Amino acid sequence: MSEELDDLYQQVIMDHSKSPRNFGKIEGFTHHAEGYNPLCGDHFGVDLILKDGVVVDVKFNGAGCAISTSSASLMTEAVRGRPTAEAEALFERMHALVTDRPDPGGPDLGKLEAFAGVRNFPMRVKCATLAWHAFHAALNGAAEPVSTE
Ligand code: FES
Repeated sequence: MSEELDDLYQQVIMDHSKSPRNFGKIEGFTHHAEGYNPLCGDHFGVDLILKDGVVVDVKFNGAGCAISTSSASLMTEAVRGRPTAEAEALFERMHALVTDRPDPGGPDLGKLEAFAGVRNFPMRVKCATLAWHAFHAALNGAAEPVSTE
């Protein structure tokens, strides 16, 4: 990765960790799940409003490190307005990106590409996917908190 691109990605991550978008709770959510990382104790709740198979609103709350917070923030921007199948495909693609597995293809990752460098830091994979796991659990109606383990 070029140094310029690396810097740009760093800026995206820092911006979203300092000023998270869509942070908070949704009154009257239709779906909700909690996710936690047992390695550090960080946790996020994700609230959704699904309508006709589309994620019409999404917010997250809780506490996490810079990577997990920025990932949660960027996730909310990436999935809002998408059909659930497309949002799930984005999660698969994001997961492959940070674990350096073959790209399954699917929706454009856009700003989520900022997390490509995480593949070089296996300990941070759980940070980058914490909110995504909670989102996936919320979509699938999980009753219990989900773990990144
Ligand atoms: Fe806990 Fe990153 S150190 S989620």
